[in-house]
Amino acid sequence: MAVIVLNHSMVKHKLTNIRRKETTTKDFYQNVNEIAGLMAYEISRDFPLKDVEIETPICKTIQKELAAEIVIVPILRAGLGMVDGIRDMIPTAKVGFIGMYRDEKTLMPHEYFAKFPDTMLKDNAVVLVVDPMLATGGSAVAAIDNLKKRGAKNIRFVCLVAAPEGVKTLEAAHPDIDIYCATVDEKLNEVGYIVPGLGDCGDRLFGTK
Ligand code: PRP
Ligand code: URA
Repeated sequence: MAVIVLNHSMVKHKLTNIRRKETTTKDFYQNVNEIAGLMAYEISRDFPLKDVEIETPICKTIQKELAAEIVIVPILRAGLGMVDGIRDMIPTAKVGFIGMYRDEKTLMPHEYFAKFPDTMLKDNAVVLVVDPMLATGGSAVAAIDNLKKRGAKNIRFVCLVAAPEGVKTLEAAHPDIDIYCATVDEKLNEVGYIVPGLGDCGDRLFGTK
């Protein structure tokens, strides 16, 4: 398992925007999507390609096109905030959904919805599980457990802010999964929020608090 931190000046700049407590819902949503788009560029760097014969206005030629079926699986709700940004970069991607919420007291994840495209089970599928926050790691582990049970194989986990505790838990449960993130923050606080973090990502994306 690898932890790949996207070290990019624009990613850092936009992360600062979403960490600021006074950032509006609209700007928060926009910046989350923009970071996800920048991350998609890096995540897709090694996607498999195949040769195709095409015709330019000048001649026939053999060129490359994407050989993988890309499936984006946001963990609802907050994962939804990253989908458009990734689809802008990978427009052929299909989208599945897994609904998960953390019990505020126990911090245990509870699944309430799941729906995936059939392409997820193809041999050439690459599944991007996306959620801006990897805190205790409980939601990510449960989502990936579910996807593996259904037969998904080549899975990558993509988040914006990871806590060291969540990285450790995900690594222990799914050592085959690479984690892509924009930052690994300091720690979790006593109520399971990432420090310094950005607060409750779902609420900030959708204006629910
Ligand atoms: C948040 C976040 C992750 C989860 C991370 O979701 O979007 O899914 O917490 O925490 P964990 O690593 O400790 O499991 P939340 O449960 O707040 O639901 P929401 O996205 O609907 O707001
Ligand atoms: N979920 C969030 O939205 N934020 C955190 O800091 C931890 C979990």
